[in-house]
Amino acid sequence: MIRKPIAAIRGLGTGVPERIMTNADFEKFLDTSDQWIVERTGIRERHIAGPAESLASLCRSASEFAMAQAGVGPLDVDAIILGTISPDRRLPATACDLQALLGAKNASAVDVAAACPGWLYALALGEGLIASGQARTVLALGAEKLSSVTDYRDRSTAVLFGDGAGAAVLQPAGDDGRGILSIVLGSDGTLAHLLYIPGGGSLDPVSELVVRDRTHFIRMAGREVFKAAVLAMSRACEQALARAGVTADQIDLLVPHQANLRIIESTAKHAGLPMSKVLVNVDRYGNTSSASIPIAIAEGVADGRITPGSLLLTVTFGAGFTWGAAVIRW
Ligand code: ACO
Repeated sequence: MIRKPIAAIRGLGTGVPERIMTNADFEKFLDTSDQWIVERTGIRERHIAGPAESLASLCRSASEFAMAQAGVGPLDVDAIILGTISPDRRLPATACDLQALLGAKNASAVDVAAACPGWLYALALGEGLIASGQARTVLALGAEKLSSVTDYRDRSTAVLFGDGAGAAVLQPAGDDGRGILSIVLGSDGTLAHLLYIPGGGSLDPVSELVVRDRTHFIRMAGREVFKAAVLAMSRACEQALARAGVTADQIDLLVPHQANLRIIESTAKHAGLPMSKVLVNVDRYGNTSSASIPIAIAEGVADGRITPGSLLLTVTFGAGFTWGAAVIRW
């Protein structure tokens, strides 16, 4: 039986920097090529924040659009949950800066560090606040300024990442069946060392050595992450479908985390969905981590591939390792 949703997304907005870095830009300073990047990842360009663009300002653009769409004002927001691993500062949470920018005086605010699944974690926590009666209107965001933690001397990671924000307004579901039908989340901290930022945290605080060794940037064992991602995402899809009470053939559109076109193709194959039912925009955004799914859904809504009542399957995987999947009746 199809599960009855507790919460529904009433508005969705994005904040994406205008500045674009193409593969040709990387060819100028790294030993890489457009051909390698396109063949191995499917990425052609990514948006990179300019000096005046903060994570909070990207979140503000995304939130204001989502709130206008949902017809809610700043004072209606009860909670702000921001999935990010690239906050503007270590203290306070960027969600608090966003709360101030929006004038959302009644809202609690917190950052959630769950890497690429950050938006799904924010959605799940928001759904929980709504279910417990603690909140009626939640802003659930996934946003990253990954350019701030990317080592532009490391060709194996530099070409992958981009910046951007996505924001959803979450409210109690109505009787029309639209909303979040299931969310499954998971993690495996024993594999943290395969994708991490070694230095600059409290374990190895910022020092001349950290900066010299460039350990304040993302390090990734790409091939191992690739394999783990395909496995975890396939399992998470199965679990999310089962929990929602739907089968893969009922899904209108798969909206996977946009990290790598080959991972997306493998995930679609495991889920038994043709690529015609998969939303892909990794070519134009690169991997924006927690922002990637809301940005992709927003594109699907804008171009008419997602309409009210569409049944979506989303799935994601990232550092931690963490993963998640959700079935959403749009
Ligand atoms: N240009 C040219 N050559 C390159 C580049 C580059 N940009 N990067 C790596 N290479 C080389 C390597 O040095 C290696 O050369 P060698 O064989 O001489 O040693 C060769 O290409 C193959 O390297 P691999 O790492 O094995 O390449 P692979 O096919 O695995 O692709 C990639 C690498 C794209 C990183 C892939 O492994 C991947 O996408 N992994 C998963 C990434 C991901 O999904 N991350 C999860 C989320 S990220 C987050 O949470 C923030």
